[in-house]
Amino acid sequence: MENIVEGPVVSELPDQAAAPAKLLPVAELHLHIEGTLEPELIFALAERNGIDLPYPGLDELRRRYQFTDLQSFLDLYYANMAVLQTEQDFADMTRAYLERAALAGVRHAEIMMDPQAHVSRGIPLETCVNGVASVLATSVEDYGISTILIAAFLRDLPEDSALEVLEALLAMGAPIGAVGLDSAEVGNPPAKFERVFARAREAGLRLTAHAGEEGPPSYIIEALDVLGVERIDHGIRCMEDPGLVERLVDARTPLTVCPLSNVRLRTVDTLADHPLPAMLAAGLNVSVNSDDPAYFGGYVDDNFAQLQAVFELSDFDRARLAANSVHSSFASEERKAQLLDELNGL
Ligand code: ADE
Ligand code: ZN
Repeated sequence: MENIVEGPVVSELPDQAAAPAKLLPVAELHLHIEGTLEPELIFALAERNGIDLPYPGLDELRRRYQFTDLQSFLDLYYANMAVLQTEQDFADMTRAYLERAALAGVRHAEIMMDPQAHVSRGIPLETCVNGVASVLATSVEDYGISTILIAAFLRDLPEDSALEVLEALLAMGAPIGAVGLDSAEVGNPPAKFERVFARAREAGLRLTAHAGEEGPPSYIIEALDVLGVERIDHGIRCMEDPGLVERLVDARTPLTVCPLSNVRLRTVDTLADHPLPAMLAAGLNVSVNSDDPAYFGGYVDDNFAQLQAVFELSDFDRARLAANSVHSSFASEERKAQLLDELNGL
């Protein structure tokens, strides 16, 4: 594979539709750890914790994975978190993700968790943070994946709730590297969280936020201008605002795109309608991510495989997406260089 230069470009090589896609080393930058709870693990944890689920079996649960929009998914996503009770539960979920991610070619993962979704149902902050962090602490040795934990705040709750949890995380010395903003987007614009992001920046944390998933392009602008985020999660609706696209291209702002998620949440009708090729063609700094892989039909490798099947991405475009993921990560410069060397050596 040829050397990868900095900056997103679109290949003019002939497409590689006939060749099976090679697994590339990638950084996964948009992943909710609670969205990796596979149905089998949900039932196993429910049994271990003596929790009655409102569905008698796997098939009945799987039948609920027909989402009409973001909120219809969030309702099930939050309900299923009831099975997460102990540090061991959080650790088991994290181990299962890393094991699967390693098979998908993930070499660096920035993992969001939703502390408020656990604290609000009576789980101590230490239980969820320490359960996930205990596994991330040895992720390089155990899975070959470097990791960063991101505390994501629920934008449909008041800002004071997020501030309180952020202060508690800082007070306990939680090993978080960044903060994020997720949950129901429309009606909860980024500016609502100005104080939270200012405090996180002051504490030396990196900043990212979901914007432009279901919400309008103005939410992306607000996340950049008011929150000062370095990265936008999703961001696909930027394509409705040419001036914003130009700004994002000029600044090389990373957009962590999640194609299968967008299809399952009906943000786009089918994968063939997804704006990813247009985003690449526009010169946007996009990467491919799985969001909530247990709910949306696939991990990063599945996202790449289905994109490949529909759009016949060239090897060069796939390498570009992988390189973008590394450049856009919050990893150390040393780790980024290692991963880029790996990519260039293919
Ligand atoms: N929380 C988990 N997945 C999410 C998504 N796709 N959008 C917003 N919040 C989320
Ligand atoms: Zn997300």
